[in-house]
Amino acid sequence: MSFKIGNLEIENKIILAPMAGVSNSPFRILSRTYGAGLVFAEMVSDKGLLFNNEKTIKLLYMTDVEKPMAQQVFGSDLKTMVEAAMYIEKNSNCDIIDINMGCPVPKVAIKAQAGASLMKNPDMIYSIVSEIVKKVKKPVTVKIRSGWDNQSVNAVEVAKRIEEAGASAITVHARTRAQGYGGFADLDVIKAVKEAVNIPVIGNGDVVDGPSAKRMLEYTKCDAVMIGRAALGNPWIFREINAYLKDGTIIDRPTHQEIKEMMILHFNSLADLKGEHTAILEMRSHGPWYLKGIEHASALRKQLSQTKTKAEFISHIEAFFE
Ligand SMILES: Cc1cc2nc3c(=O)[nH]c(=O)nc-3n(C[C@H](O)[C@H](O)[C@H](O)COP(=O)(O)O)c2cc1C
Repeated sequence: MSFKIGNLEIENKIILAPMAGVSNSPFRILSRTYGAGLVFAEMVSDKGLLFNNEKTIKLLYMTDVEKPMAQQVFGSDLKTMVEAAMYIEKNSNCDIIDINMGCPVPKVAIKAQAGASLMKNPDMIYSIVSEIVKKVKKPVTVKIRSGWDNQSVNAVEVAKRIEEAGASAITVHARTRAQGYGGFADLDVIKAVKEAVNIPVIGNGDVVDGPSAKRMLEYTKCDAVMIGRAALGNPWIFREINAYLKDGTIIDRPTHQEIKEMMILHFNSLADLKGEHTAILEMRSHGPWYLKGIEHASALRKQLSQTKTKAEFISHIEAFFE
């Protein structure tokens, strides 16, 4: 079940995706605890690091419990990307430096010409990856999309350049930038990339449970799968997929008691790290995610999205799950 990125042994094939505003240290710890073999931290801006932006630097916070961890960086300028990678190498205890070449949001992909915008410029991709690989010792990985749009699906070409530049692995989110998060991930793109390169390929897009993870692994022959949205409010997904891949076991979904305890644990660990106020703001999203699929929870969802204190948060949950 294990695989390697550079010299780093990853104990299984299930990986937590980088998700801005979500994949912070508490969430990564929960994901590792429940069986993710590797966790990605949300993207940080190259210029944010270099200009000493306090918020950006705080995003680098991590603990040894969550290792192995990959820290992602985004940007479009060769010089600042290399300097940012060196900054991460020096100031973070992460195990991997990952470069974002897939982010579709206008602020990143259009305004900053970073993220998925780089897919339009394979030469630039080569330069950024090869320069970073020369300057840092940690393994460098890259996360790409299928291409910019349907007319320019170039993941195979880009993946070959990334391998040539010395990267240690590639993640392919098998959607184009134009697709955003709509439509379906195209497993044939992941398969084609896997056939084209020798470094490990991590498949990404629409894995939601054991069967969908198995399908992606078997059909594309990718080395591991990355889970994003299906992990929101659902750290149990990692143990469920691991069990299914091992011998087809279907683990029961968490009980209401487990969900309640997890919500409180998640809240407390966010509050320890960022203070009660920020924890409340973040739990306004996480709370409703934890309640997905639970009947008669719409009033609670609304209450959680408006809570102002820890005491209120806990009393709403306790009243509902009583
Ligand atoms: C809230 C959110 C934030 C995201 N932030 C990032 C990010 O910081 N870096 C990145 O490479 N991808 C980011 N993504 C994309 C995911 O890593 C992943 O590629 C995408 O959600 C597809 O996987 P899924 O179908 O398992 O969700 C984000 C996705 C979501 C939903």
